[in-house]
Amino acid sequence: MNRRDFLKLAGVSLLSLAALTMGCGLFNAAKADAPAPKVKQSTSEGASQNMNNGKKILVAYFSWSGNTKAVAEEIHKQVGGDIVEIVPATPYSETYSVTVAKAKTEQEAGARPAISTKIADFEQYDTIYLGYPNWWGSMPMPVATFIDTYKMSGKKVAPFFTHGGGGVQRCMSDLEARAQGANFTDYLCLSGSSAKNSQGEITSWVKKTQN
Ligand SMILES: Cc1cc2nc3c(=O)[nH]c(=O)nc-3n(C[C@H](O)[C@H](O)[C@H](O)COP(=O)(O)O)c2cc1C
Repeated sequence: MNRRDFLKLAGVSLLSLAALTMGCGLFNAAKADAPAPKVKQSTSEGASQNMNNGKKILVAYFSWSGNTKAVAEEIHKQVGGDIVEIVPATPYSETYSVTVAKAKTEQEAGARPAISTKIADFEQYDTIYLGYPNWWGSMPMPVATFIDTYKMSGKKVAPFFTHGGGGVQRCMSDLEARAQGANFTDYLCLSGSSAKNSQGEITSWVKKTQN
């Protein structure tokens, strides 16, 4: 093999290696299907026994960028019971503008995106703390799927929302319209930017929901 042939071969090998490496990266990204979310039971026996008044509680939440999740976890810490995330079967893009556009299309179409969340015995719960971010003035459509799947009728529902400046808008009224027959408490609506530092507000609201 002369010098030119050797350089050609080396170049092709390097290209193949790069393609393989990129291919592996893509494969890993594509196969990163999250397992179906499970209901997590309270690890805080004290909270469960002292705060639940004999009622079974589920904290269920949807969160795209973590604000509502932080609020949900604080509520769970305070009230005990079980906690579950409402997870869309097809994840939303991590790119804000893509998710914003998709959320709009879904809302306009009245879509019911599939969710991977499974709750074995929803009947057992007396109280549902249900939370989500304000998306286009209302609920993310996977939450509508959750409400259609798990009937809230006859249950106490304590709604909590986070927002990016618009406040509650139609988050509460649309929930009331969709979850017919539920007994609603007052809602909690927090700005997303302060969601992680709202312990005091959460505590006051939690007390009201327990009356
Ligand atoms: C798709 C999308 C739509 C949104 N629409 C609104 C809106 O109409 N009004 C508003 O106040 N905030 C809106 N926001 C901001 C979120 O409500 C806010 O950042 C929230 O705290 C995010 O919660 P999360 O971190 O749990 O996803 C929107 C955010 C996204 C991603």
